[in-house]
Order: sequence, then structure tokens, then C-alpha cells
Amino acid sequence: MDFKVADLSLADYGRTEITLAEHEMPGLMAMREQYGEAKPLAGAKIAGSLHMTIQTAVLIETLVALGADVRWASCNIFSTQDHAAAAVVVGPEGTVENPSGVPVFAWKGETLEEYWWCTQQILDWPAGEFANMILDDGGDATLLVHLGVEAEKTGQAPDPATATSGEQRIIFEVLQASLTQSNDRWTKIANEIKGVTEETTTGVLRLYDMMREGSLLFPAINVNDSVTKSKFDNKYGCRHSLIDGINRATDVLIGGKVAVVCGYGDVGKGSADSLRGQGARVIVTEIDPICALQAAMDGYQVSTLDDVVDTADIIITATGNKDVVTVDQMKRMKHNAILANIGHFDNEIDMAGLEADGVATRKNVKPQVDVWTFPEGNAIIVLSEGRLMNLGNATGHPSFVMSNSFTNQVLAQIEIYSKTEEYPVGVYVLPKHLDEMVARLHLDALGVKLTTLTDSQASYLGLDVAGPYKSEQYRY
Ligand code: NAI
Repeated sequence: MDFKVADLSLADYGRTEITLAEHEMPGLMAMREQYGEAKPLAGAKIAGSLHMTIQTAVLIETLVALGADVRWASCNIFSTQDHAAAAVVVGPEGTVENPSGVPVFAWKGETLEEYWWCTQQILDWPAGEFANMILDDGGDATLLVHLGVEAEKTGQAPDPATATSGEQRIIFEVLQASLTQSNDRWTKIANEIKGVTEETTTGVLRLYDMMREGSLLFPAINVNDSVTKSKFDNKYGCRHSLIDGINRATDVLIGGKVAVVCGYGDVGKGSADSLRGQGARVIVTEIDPICALQAAMDGYQVSTLDDVVDTADIIITATGNKDVVTVDQMKRMKHNAILANIGHFDNEIDMAGLEADGVATRKNVKPQVDVWTFPEGNAIIVLSEGRLMNLGNATGHPSFVMSNSFTNQVLAQIEIYSKTEEYPVGVYVLPKHLDEMVARLHLDALGVKLTTLTDSQASYLGLDVAGPYKSEQYRY
């Protein structure tokens, strides 16, 4: 088996944590129970690009239990938990000397070159075969295939010299190198892929863009917009993992401090709640009047970053947008203010500007924590180099909430793989009855007792007793 992880000897530790996580992931375990025998994913060759954590290990092993062949990479250079990666490679039956699990290409602290190498490894299968499904988080694997096909069509990879960022330059180099080896590799991969299931807001945005432009090459299921994903993982997951990241990175007392959360979508709502729960005085920034009004009614001061940047102790970006915090604003921050991003990509904070010659000097405190000092002597603490800090500085969302997200992922993979002809190229969400099923699978573990509609109540509301209970327009 080919694989590349940090240290296989961590597998035992990883396996113990996977076993504990399984107990907290009733949705995924129910999928194994329900579909383990029928194996609806038999024949599926899934290329997974999603944070290689303990929770993801339970997802991977669920996909395998349903018959899939899987290869995995992380979707972020800092988010891999090395013991999880080792345990997945070794597998439940294997040994360190004789691993028999799933090929994983991921370790904590990859360079960007290594990251894009890993992403390529999950698409190429042994013996010249390719993946036929993608499970993506942020859309990097999907993007690479699309850029590759485009390059093969024109016979020309984009010139690395024209790249507008270091990361784009690396992608262009990957494409150039692959064109010198084969002029139809990416086209072959795209032809094999039956579909992609996308985990997060930012990846979903990319998919809808490609659909609008007419460039999308295969069908996609938008897992993010299952209610049991974005209204749970993005919100309650971040409520848990945002302060976990700050605490592990800095251990500053959060109570009483002024914290700014940029963006009051699902992630912003969970992040603001997380900080308020610790006693911080939270200020929200928004561009959308509806979300701004929500924040105000939830009791937060709503202002612009420019107005409050010099009073804040902690500044968090949660927008999925770019250039939300500029270098000028960083210079105006309080001495030793903490600056971090919980959105998907690192361009929310102008890290390139901060890193430019002469702007500030960097002192690394420990992995994923840097103090940047400006020539005037004031400094700021930047977490995870501006990459998503709840996975860089902590271990991401806890198992129970990820069980909801990943049960949607499993259902979405089964849906596209087994009903390919029902999904022409386009972007879809899972039907509501499956969303409700995912929630239902998580009730018992929390001791929730659900009320059952009477027949006459059901007909009064125009519903089936068994659901779905809400219209497609309902917003939760
Ligand atoms: P969302 O679309 O619900 O919320 C983003 C909010 O930011 C919107 O309300 C928007 O109006 C606002 N916004 C955009 N530009 C802004 C600006 N310049 N200033 C202030 N507000 C601005 O998206 P969601 O689901 O909250 O996701 C946000 C990001 O977090 C995405 O990149 C997503 O992929 C990522 N994400 C990260 C997770 C993590 O564990 N770190 C988990 C889930 C999502």
C-alpha cells in the first residue's frame, strides 16, 4: 500500500481515540448498521480531501464498511492529526509492520508543495486507474481536476510567472509538470468521476460559480446546505472549537476582553456565542443587513472593523471572503492582540501583506502561533498563519457534531454513486427526508423525546406523520 503520514507508530493512540469517537458518532455507526451488508458503495473509488482528523477516520472507515475503496488527503496543511492518519493507514486489522487500512497522504505541517502533491495522490489509483468519486472540503480536489482539464483542452498550463499568489504558482507548476507527462490524464480523471460531495460553504460557492459559468464537469451534492450540516457543524461546532483554538494557542483569559467577530453567518454565530460564553464583550461586523440585524437582536454591538480595530483584544474572521483584515488595520491593533481566521481559506486576513518585506518581523512562539512585531514596536499574535485556527491550533469540531455532517456525506456519496443517472451535471442538496433522518439518528444519544403528530394534527398541517415536517422555504 502506498501512503505518506508522519509516524505510523502513533496508530495505537489513534485507534483508541477512533474507538472513543465511534461511540460519539451514532449517525455514522447507524450507516454501517443500515448499509454494511448491502454495500451500496461497492466499486466506488473515493478520493477524499478533508481534514484528516479522528472524526474523519470514522467517516473513512464507514465508507469502507459500505464497500468503497478510499484514498485520503487533508484539505489544509495544518489540520491533520497525525495519530488519526497513522491509525487509518494501519487499519483496524493491520499492524504497523503490515498496514492494511486506507492510503492516506497527510501530515500536520505540510508545505504548500507537499499539500498539492498529496491532493494528486488521491486521484491516481494504483495500476493506472483513477478515482471515480470525490469527497471534497473547500473544493481543492475538484478545482485541480477542472484546471487540469482546462489546461489539456488548450494544450497549455497557465504560466507560473503570471500567478497572483504563492499557492496559485504552485498549482500552475503542478499543471505544467503534469502536461509534460500526459496530455489527457486530467480529462481521463474527469470522465471517471461520477460526482463530488462538498462539505463546506466556500467549496459550495465555487461549485455554484462553475455551474453558472457552464464549466462544471460532473454533478455535485452540496452537503453544507443540509440543515443538519451548516446549522450544526458551522454553528455549534465553531462554538466549541473556536475558544479551544484560542486557549491552546495562547491561554489568555477571554472573559472581559473585547472580541470582534467578522461575519455573522453560521460560523460567525457559533464563534460569537463561543466568545460570549467565556464572558468576552463581542462586537460583530457584517455586510448583510439581515445578518447585522440578527446580531444586534442577539445582543451584540454591530460596527465596522475600522471603527473598533484599535479597541479589540481578539479579532476573528468568519466570512469566507477575502481581504477582510488589512495590514493597515493590523498595525492599528492593540499590542499583543490576537488575530485569527476560522473561515476556510487564509486570504480573509492579508497574510501576504503582513509577510511582505519590511512590514513586520515574525517570531515563532510554537507551532501555529507567531508574534508579528511592527517597526513601531507594537505586535500582534497571529494563529495558524491565518489558516483556519480551530483545526490548526486545536482539533476541530468534536465527534458528535461531525457525525451529523458526515452522515450527510455518506448519504450524498451513496446517492450520486448509486443513482448517477438521476443526477445530470448540476449542484444538488439532499432531500429533506434524509436531512430529518440524520437528525433523528442523533436524538437518542442526547435523551431527546420527540412528540409524534396525531393523524388529525398531521392533516391539519398538511403533513405526513412521518415527515418531512417543513417546506423547502423554511429556514430553521
Ligand atoms: P455564511 O455565508 O453563512 O457566513 C458568512 C458571513 O460573512 C455572511 O453573513 C456574510 O454576509 C458575511 N461577510 C462577507 N463578507 C464580509 C465582510 N467583508 N465583513 C463582514 N462580514 C462579511 O458562511 P459560513 O457557513 O458561516 O462559513 C464561513 C466560512 O467558514 C466559510 O469559508 C466556510 O467554508 C468556513 N467554515 C469553517 C468551519 C471551520 O470549522 N473552521 C466550519 C464550517 C465552515
